[in-house]
Amino acid sequence: MKPQIYVARRIPAEVEAYLKEHAEVRKWEQERPITKDELKEEVGDAEGLLIAGTPITEELLANAPNLKVVSNISVGYNNLNIDALRSRGVLATHTPYVLDDTVADLAFTLILSASRRVVELDHWVRDGKWQKGQEDELFGVDVHHATLGIIGLGRIGERIARRAIFGFDMKVLYNNRNRKPQVEAELGVSYASMEELLKTSDIVLLMLPLTEETRGLMGAREFDMMKRSAVFINVARGPIVDETALVEALQQRKIFAAGLDVFDREPIDPNHPLLQCTNVVTLPHIGSATAATRTKMAQRAANNLIHALQGSKEIDLIPE
Ligand code: DGY
Repeated sequence: MKPQIYVARRIPAEVEAYLKEHAEVRKWEQERPITKDELKEEVGDAEGLLIAGTPITEELLANAPNLKVVSNISVGYNNLNIDALRSRGVLATHTPYVLDDTVADLAFTLILSASRRVVELDHWVRDGKWQKGQEDELFGVDVHHATLGIIGLGRIGERIARRAIFGFDMKVLYNNRNRKPQVEAELGVSYASMEELLKTSDIVLLMLPLTEETRGLMGAREFDMMKRSAVFINVARGPIVDETALVEALQQRKIFAAGLDVFDREPIDPNHPLLQCTNVVTLPHIGSATAATRTKMAQRAANNLIHALQGSKEIDLIPE
């Protein structure tokens, strides 16, 4: 008998066809994303769940007596209550590797557009503010040969470092839970304490997971340590940053600019003070959002789900 699964996210037709070969599939039919309460009602007897960022809570698990596997179409997994999943023996998987270069490309898009004020100056042109003789009002800061400080040097951080070193002749510092001697030797990146990284980097970039240790890592003290000419980039998770402190740093020009793909609450309230700052470039959490990469992520998550239900070890288990 095929296992029952519930698909809580729209997925490409070919991925759905693959799932149907191996499982009885029920799915969320609406255009809008499913809420955690709706998922709790929908899960029923499913043994497997395919989700993308929907919170998996203790309450949902209590309502899912047959659940064996939760497969997340995302590399980040802060939406999962890992302790609750482990205590019930439910396996959890995610989708590393397939999105690394796509997210690294987006990180560079934000580095360049925040440093050279691309969005702000696009508005200048459209609003008729462009006049002959303008000089320093249009100045940005250089990216080439600058020092990039990466906080969190995992696979995606390494891809960003490669772009920085080989494409832009940048010097790269990193801070990480563990030192990476092999990456240091291969790429020429240098380990730095948080303080040294914040004080000496021209661009400070967050690329680490959201955990209880990293929540609120970037606050007023950290922004105060950064150079006044520095650019801050977040392509990781919003709650790693104290947004009130970031707004103050941007408004008081304690830093030059920020580029943000992620926010404390998503979607961010359009009246949020961050969006009143002209020196910030914002995006709606699109790190991995290309058709090709999202298809690969959905296929990888589908493979993880079916393999785990079949008892195979060929899965991307969420790390301990
Ligand atoms: C992820 O997969 O965690 C990314 O944030 C998606 O953009």
